[in-house]
Formats: sequence, C-alpha cells, structure tokens
Amino acid sequence: MAAMAIKATTRRIPGRRRPYPALMQTPDVHTIEDLKTWAAAGRAAIDPKPILAVIGKPVAHSLSPQLHQAALDQFGIEGQYIRIEVEPGAVRQAFDLMAGLGFTGCNVTVPHKVEALQAVDEADTLAQRIGAVNTVLFQDDLKLGFNSDGPGLVRAIREEFSVDLKDLRVMILGAGGGAGRAAAVQCALENCERVVLVNRTTDKATDLAAELRTMLHGTPVLGPRSRIQALPLDPRKIEAQLDALDLVINATSVGLKPTDPPLLPAAILQPHLLVYDLIYKPARTRLLRDAAAAGCRGANGLSMLLHQGVVSFGHWFGDEPDPNPMRQALMDA
Ligand SMILES: NC(=O)c1ccc[n+]([C@@H]2O[C@H](COP(=O)([O-])OP(=O)(O)OC[C@H]3O[C@@H](n4cnc5c(N)ncnc54)[C@H](OP(=O)(O)O)[C@@H]3O)[C@@H](O)[C@H]2O)c1
Repeated sequence: MAAMAIKATTRRIPGRRRPYPALMQTPDVHTIEDLKTWAAAGRAAIDPKPILAVIGKPVAHSLSPQLHQAALDQFGIEGQYIRIEVEPGAVRQAFDLMAGLGFTGCNVTVPHKVEALQAVDEADTLAQRIGAVNTVLFQDDLKLGFNSDGPGLVRAIREEFSVDLKDLRVMILGAGGGAGRAAAVQCALENCERVVLVNRTTDKATDLAAELRTMLHGTPVLGPRSRIQALPLDPRKIEAQLDALDLVINATSVGLKPTDPPLLPAAILQPHLLVYDLIYKPARTRLLRDAAAAGCRGANGLSMLLHQGVVSFGHWFGDEPDPNPMRQALMDA
C-alpha cells in the first residue's frame, strides 16, 4: 500500500435504468468461490451485471445493495451491487477477482477494513490516518483505497443536529473499535475543541489519544485539560466530563441486542447533550431512549450509513448522488 497522489477520476458507465426485480435473480450472498467460477458457472449472464459489492463476514444483513442501487438508478448506470462473504485473509484475493471481472469498486465492512488497507495499492491520506479502508476503486489496474466513515459522520451530524462537528466538544464511547477510531480521527482532523476517548480496553484509547494529539492545530491543552483525553468506561469518570461536552457518540456495539445492559447509567445524561448512536438497528437503542428521557436530542446511525454511502459513490463515479432517494431506499429496506 502506498500513499495516493491523485484523487480518483470520474468513471461514468453509460446505460439505461434497469428495473429492480432483476436483483432478485441473484443469490443474497455470493462467495469468493462464485467469483473464481464466475464465467464457467454462467454468472457473466447476470443482468444487470454486478459492478459493485460489499465484502464482509457476515454480510447478509448489509443494506448497502439497496442504498447503492438507488444511486445507480439515479444516474442511469447499468449494473447492480451485490454482497460477497469473504473470509479473513482473503481480502486481496477478493479485490483481484473483482477487478478481473470488471467491477468498478467495492465497500469493505467488518471485519476486513484494516486488512483492506494492506490489500490496496494506494490509500488516500484519510484512510491511512484512520488505519482502515471501507471503499475501494478499481482503476487502471490499481486498487485505490478510501475511507468514507469519517466524512459520512460529519454530514450526519450536520443533518441531524444542524451543527458542524468541528464546533462541538465530543465524547466517543468505543473509541478503540473501527468505527470509533474513524470518528475520533475525524474529530481531530476537524480540530474539535475537545475530544474525550472512552474505551472498555483503556489502553486502546490511550494509544489513540497520543496519536490524535499530533493531528490537532493550535494548543494541545485547554486550561488544565488536554484537548484529547482518554478515559476508561467508568460512569463516574464519564459523568465528570459531561458538563463540558456537547456531543456523545456511541461507537460501541452495546445496544445492538435488545438484551444488552445499559452502556451508561441513565441518570448521568444531561439535557444539553446531543447523543448520536452509530447503531441504526434497532432504531432506538436503550441509550437513545435514556437520552430522550433526559431531555437530550438524539439520533441513530442511519444518517451516517447513508452519507458514507454517498461519499463512497463519489469515489467510484466522480459525482455524488442525491441522498434523498438513497434515504428512502434505506427506510423501505
Ligand atoms: N452507522 C454506521 O454507518 C456505522 C458504521 C460502522 C459501524 N457502525 C456501528 O458501530 C458499532 C461498532 O462497530 P465497529 O465496526 O467499530 O466494531 P468493533 O471494531 O468490533 O468495535 C467494537 C467497540 O465496542 C466496544 N465494546 C464491545 N463490547 C462492549 C461491551 N460489552 N462493553 C463496552 N464496550 C464494548 C469495543 O471495546 P474493546 O476495544 O474494549 O473491545 C470496541 O470499542 C457497531 O454497532 C456497528 O454496527 C455503524
């Protein structure tokens, strides 16, 4: 993987709008074996031709096909977006196979985003700083890596709360995970006044804090406090910070299951806080319900999913789609 010198250029595929039902003729999830035997198994005849994919494991739950089909349809691009389940260690092979089959690009989801950074030929600066790739463009025999999670978060915060991330003092719960790290790097690059990194495994937050301090502009301290601070997932230590913060982001996986215990005690939430939960299914996690009861404004991660998709699409085709039909496709799904 090398640093990327130039931004990807526009690649428009001319074509006509295709009816949605053709999607139903392909399996919900492809495998790497399918890619290897693509022509021999007659898959070259799939219509519309798959040109985009999400790779992950598991991947069957991904809403990315619905999201991006709405964007493909907007531009009248002939092609479809599929899901491919890929084992850890096989990401480079998956990229090679997709590129060989004429795919335009792909998204990368859990658990492959870090491996994807190593598997691309070049990665842009943001992907390198985040240490992960979630978007790949196959262009001129090169695999070019990007990360749209951070920019997607910036747009989501703007959309949900009518305020810019750069103007907020932010706490990130789960800063040591993949999504939390992307959010934290983005906050540092936005030069947020304060960023408090909280993680169950505190060492990960401490290491990340040291890294992020090098990305800030201006003074690294504000009064007695470092602008970037690491904390354990300790309710008392978290509560002591909340007075002087504006936005709490949940980037942990706590809340995905209805049986999950509360991530924070409801009593420590204060009404001035904005609460953004990256989880979008369920749509209202325990944290969001507790936040609403405490008088906070809250939103779930559907808007980040939407906007990272818009940014990814821009990397593939040069032009960004209108988010509204994509949002509608997500709601329908
Ligand atoms: N809306 C979107 O577009 C979007 C995009 C990406 C991810 N997400 C969501 O963000 C969440 C995290 O995803 P990820 O890819 O970052 O996962 P990940 O890399 O596996 O990270 C999981 C994070 O959750 C923490 N965690 C896990 N179980 C915990 C527990 N019982 N108590 C406290 N902390 C716990 C982990 O802490 P340790 O480091 O201590 O293990 C880590 O910080 C998921 O819910 C995912 O669905 C949403």
